[in-house]
Amino acid sequence: MFNLDMAPADPILGLTDAFRNDPAPGKINLGVGVYKDDNGRTPIMRAVKKAEQRLLDSESTKSYLAISGLPTLPSLTQPLLLGEDSDLPGSGRVVTAQAPGGTGALRVAADFLRKATPDTTVWISTPTWANHTGIFQAAGLATNNYPYYDAARQGLDRDAFLSALDAVPAGDIVVLHACCHNPSGVDPDEATWREVAGIAAARGWLPIFDFAYQGFGAGLAEDRAGIVTVLDTGVPAFICSSYSKNFGLYNERIGAVTFVGETADEAERAFSHIKVAIRSNYSNPPSHGGSIVAAILSEDDLRAEWEDELTVMRDRIFAMRKGLADGLAARGVDRDFDFIKHQKGMFSFAGITPAQVDALRERHHVYAVRSGRINVAGITSAEMDRVCDALADVLAND
Ligand code: LMR
Repeated sequence: MFNLDMAPADPILGLTDAFRNDPAPGKINLGVGVYKDDNGRTPIMRAVKKAEQRLLDSESTKSYLAISGLPTLPSLTQPLLLGEDSDLPGSGRVVTAQAPGGTGALRVAADFLRKATPDTTVWISTPTWANHTGIFQAAGLATNNYPYYDAARQGLDRDAFLSALDAVPAGDIVVLHACCHNPSGVDPDEATWREVAGIAAARGWLPIFDFAYQGFGAGLAEDRAGIVTVLDTGVPAFICSSYSKNFGLYNERIGAVTFVGETADEAERAFSHIKVAIRSNYSNPPSHGGSIVAAILSEDDLRAEWEDELTVMRDRIFAMRKGLADGLAARGVDRDFDFIKHQKGMFSFAGITPAQVDALRERHHVYAVRSGRINVAGITSAEMDRVCDALADVLAND
């Protein structure tokens, strides 16, 4: 019936499949963005285990959730995204629906936007997460790109970024990585966020914040600062947030789609259509991940333990960043990799070519995304020397 060519393997999750099939002992997967502890495990956080134990004892039904998910999740999610002392959650301008992960949140927002504003263009950074373009195009929206990363200076291409945002037509949509830019690890500084905020307000485009790494950059409050700065201007925005990384709940598929309207009335009307988009897609979300997050965010002891665990994770990523940069310097590679220490979040754009990525995989069984993205949060202390040796080898010889 179908005469289809094979679809290409997913650039990130396809790597995980290839890694699983590699029989080499000592193989290292630095492809997919999954945190590992220093023993190479992706453990269930202690706060999560405790919350699950409490749920096991208290859960009394498996009946459907509402289309928008658990009733308590919005009032727990909004202060986390917008600030514990923000006036926005109580203003009626903010609506939140539980979503199956950050990807699900983006797709719900995309389906809503396709209906609400079908002729709009979605602007996406160059480079970006490998799935962004696919999500918006699958919803039927046109996409375009804005410059972001300056590969020569391993930093933000600030002037090009801001001028491109200044030229985005009113009514278009701009996807912004709220923190820990994926794949580059390069975030706008405070002054640049203020510029972005001013441009969004003056030009009238709609920001969509992809907020998948809150707590992995500098801290829960620090990582939302860009969002807060932009929203302080009064512009409407979407926030597509994920609890996959900061709660380690990858396979529970738990995130949220939040819309901040210009007015409470706009938010209420938009929410009714967001619910239509959800109902015609997956009807209503699964409950387990949301129940865990709600328990942790609402019970003081669990919340304190979760925040401590998150700090440990963030500190370990910084230690691995330092180990990688210092390890490469010690091997005398003919480039300065100090920038790796200043990038934020799980990923580093190590400045290696696709041919070097292939050589890393083929000769050393170290897996990275072909764009040159390395998941620094996947390296352990025990593996650090091998990763540095492998990188030094391909940098010198490929
Ligand atoms: C990543 O970028 O590796 C993660 O966000 C996982 C994914 O779904 O691609």
